[in-house]
Amino acid sequence: MAWYCSGSTNTELVENLFKGGLIKNERVKEAMIGVDRAHYAPSHPYSDSPQPIGHGATISAPHMHGHACEYLVDYLKPGARVLDIGSGSGYLTHVFANLVMGASGRGEGLVVGIDHIPELVDIARKNMNKSDQGRHLQDSGKVQFITADGRLGWKAEAPYDAIHVGAAAEKLHPVLIEQLRAPGRLFIPVGSENGGSTLSTLGLGAGQYIWVVDKKEDGTVHKEKVFQVRYVPLTDPPRK
Ligand SMILES: C[S@@+](CC[C@H](N)C(=O)[O-])C[C@H]1O[C@@H](n2cnc3c(N)ncnc32)[C@H](O)[C@@H]1O
Repeated sequence: MAWYCSGSTNTELVENLFKGGLIKNERVKEAMIGVDRAHYAPSHPYSDSPQPIGHGATISAPHMHGHACEYLVDYLKPGARVLDIGSGSGYLTHVFANLVMGASGRGEGLVVGIDHIPELVDIARKNMNKSDQGRHLQDSGKVQFITADGRLGWKAEAPYDAIHVGAAAEKLHPVLIEQLRAPGRLFIPVGSENGGSTLSTLGLGAGQYIWVVDKKEDGTVHKEKVFQVRYVPLTDPPRK
């Protein structure tokens, strides 16, 4: 299904994802149209498939970015604070910023992108500076890219209305749930590519799945396994 959604331009790619039902929300569609993937993917930017971005990493497929936005969109409102863990190319960080700060980038809010590879953090900053709006978002401090271990979240700017994790965790790291606002939502792939996970030992199901974790207004936490995926793992940084 996914490859039918590729396009010859950014707008055509996103329109095809919308027609294919992989994106349903108009705000998500507009936010993705507002970020040219060619600024972030060095090759085949309008193909609905993951692409290499260097340093052993990939930019995820557009339909996965669409899914993540769809699950988080209700929390990506004006003024929201957002954490994007495993920000890689910076593409999704920029889409989140469009959803929170608007197409002009003049609205209020904060989006923090974290990656543990410093070269990728530099690349993300440069990618986002390719558009005037992206440069404004960084210059104003409303978007920040940080080198850190995302498994620890980023306490300095917590709590977050939305936390997205772009690589698979071994477990639902409690610290990420702690850093959620109430209400707030965490979107996180959990489990290993070959099927194991600490969740399976807890009787919560083997394999790699997206989990959506909601912290309700009264502080109670609701966890739901929503669909099966295949992500690269969250790891220690590569040794030099
Ligand atoms: C599949 S890529 C997704 C990148 C990004 N969402 C995109 O689409 O461009 C996963 C990213 O997670 C990063 N990563 C892996 N382990 C990490 C960790 N412990 N802390 C922070 N980033 C990590 C990798 O460096 C890589 O950039």
